[in-house]
Amino acid sequence: MFKFRKPLIAANWKMHKTVTESLSFVKEFLPLAAGVRDIDIVICPPFTALLALSMVFENSPIKLGAQDVFWANQGAYTGEISPLMLQDLGCQYVIIGHSERRHIIEENDLIINRKISAAKQTNLTPIFCVGETLPEREKGLAREIVQQQLEKGLQDLTAGELVVAYEPVWAIGTGINASPADAREMTGFIREQLAILYDRTWAEGVRILYGGSVKPDNIAQFMNEPDIDGALVGGASLKAADFARIVRLNDNGS
Ligand code: 13P
Repeated sequence: MFKFRKPLIAANWKMHKTVTESLSFVKEFLPLAAGVRDIDIVICPPFTALLALSMVFENSPIKLGAQDVFWANQGAYTGEISPLMLQDLGCQYVIIGHSERRHIIEENDLIINRKISAAKQTNLTPIFCVGETLPEREKGLAREIVQQQLEKGLQDLTAGELVVAYEPVWAIGTGINASPADAREMTGFIREQLAILYDRTWAEGVRILYGGSVKPDNIAQFMNEPDIDGALVGGASLKAADFARIVRLNDNGS
């Protein structure tokens, strides 16, 4: 598999794992992933485990990401975590606009736009999530919804280091992944939109991930698609052996 853009596979642990559980995952995972050189591996644990993992990752190629961020660097924002604080912990990536935050926490495009802007200013690479719900897909609105999420999320922002994750809401945590053909169509569409919003050269360099029921047994199909540069993995990233098979693209390494 040759990829012009360096593949990136990120684990989104969501609200799973204590510090102790995070450390035991990493102890098991690091040797299993040791041979993987040509893929950026990012682990996004809960905020509470970031410090412990950042110390373990200091001498490892694994990169650290957060699952969310606030848009100001400091101030009276009870309970929030700033981009500066994440940077201080060694985070290089931050997931922004995940569908669970859009739908459960009711984050809107304006908030997401502020968060992407703040992350960029602190040199954290946003993993900007977009994707349609099942009713939206059934009504034929998938492209329109994703186009609006991109346009509003990136409004007034300059081009720069960005990762986009296409996560159709109906595929998240359901065991029903998008077909590679549907994922191909939507990731190609996302790249076209990025070229329209900015310019083609920049858009060609943006890494676009697929997320939604990615498993060891289906990762290779997604990675074969021209506009899919990696994956954002939820459930299957919680077990070290499974996530290791995913970053090895289900190659048993023999
Ligand atoms: P699952 O891999 O559990 O479907 O979750 C996907 C996801 O939401 C990653 O951000």
